[in-house]
Amino acid sequence: MSAAKPAPTPIRILGIESSCDETAAAVVEDGRKLLSNVVASQIELHARYGGVFPEVASRQHIRTIYAVVQEALQQAHLSLQEIDAIAVTRGPGLAGSLVVGMNTAKGLALGSNLPLIGVNHLEGHVYSAWLHPDGEESPPPEFPLIVLLVSGGHTELNLVEGHLHYQRLGATLDDAAGEAFDKVARLLGLPYPGGPSIQKAAAGGNPNAFHMPRARLEGTWNFSFSGLKTAVLRTVREIEDQKRPLPVADLAASFQEAVVDVLVSKTIAAAEQFQAKSILVAGGVSANKELRDTILARSPVPVFIPPLSLCTDNAAMIATAGYYRFIHGQTDPLDLDVLPTWPLS
Ligand code: KG4
Ligand code: ZN
Repeated sequence: MSAAKPAPTPIRILGIESSCDETAAAVVEDGRKLLSNVVASQIELHARYGGVFPEVASRQHIRTIYAVVQEALQQAHLSLQEIDAIAVTRGPGLAGSLVVGMNTAKGLALGSNLPLIGVNHLEGHVYSAWLHPDGEESPPPEFPLIVLLVSGGHTELNLVEGHLHYQRLGATLDDAAGEAFDKVARLLGLPYPGGPSIQKAAAGGNPNAFHMPRARLEGTWNFSFSGLKTAVLRTVREIEDQKRPLPVADLAASFQEAVVDVLVSKTIAAAEQFQAKSILVAGGVSANKELRDTILARSPVPVFIPPLSLCTDNAAMIATAGYYRFIHGQTDPLDLDVLPTWPLS
């Protein structure tokens, strides 16, 4: 009789994220199991400015980051000595905000003699689809994979043929999808952040009430949302000039449908062209219900979209991406710099 194999020792990564307006820390085991996920959002602080105010963001990160890290370790019932490595967002993001997370991670890594791993924030969004937030085991996305990254700062399509290998197929030529949601919300007098506000307003509207332009940019995998934003602006001005009440719900629904249609059509066309085994949608805009429902209904291959709690910025996704870098031997020196405009590929 052969002796039972000892269970492999789990690898636990502490993730830290501070690239924009969320101060976050999380502990993830073996790249998939969420042991804790703490997010301190600054949304209310920035709402009065209608967008993220960089100096306010970095000051607030400094105030909360230590408590957030402590809370993440406590909720995971672990001390730093039981952590294998510290993963931190290195970029892209606001320089002053990134520095707070990076310096915290470096201090903890140095003090506890742990490896440091700098993670690309967009790579974090990709890996959010590997997490099991409710402990339920499900198969991970299969390669080759088409990834649609849609956030406040980015909109791009990537072909991912294996772990950590990204090939950018195309990206937005102007506004990111989330940025378009935020700007159009402002035009419609809806509160920041615009994505959730537009989704809520659109729920009571008719998506066919206004015909909004769709920039198909045939023959490329690029996107463009500035024409759509201008079309909403022009319609709003016309209605205001006529002193009619603004049909906010119909405008929100028509705008949302145009964005979703372009995102979904291009993503599915890319999946077909590159014979992808799965599609992954990630980033803040992947929280959008219309986008989720439409791509799930239209895709010929399995679609992975992180649960709502992991769509917007969090540190669990950074810990998971960090895990894949760690097991591939990719750790970083302690003099690592932040990269505010770091592309994914
Ligand atoms: O990934 P994320 O949290 O931060 C960045 O890295 O940018 O994305 C934030 C963006 C914002 O533009 C926000 O309006 C958008 O995601 N967003 C949404 C929804 N929830 C958040 N957009 C559309 N529908 C939503 N439900
Ligand atoms: Zn993000």
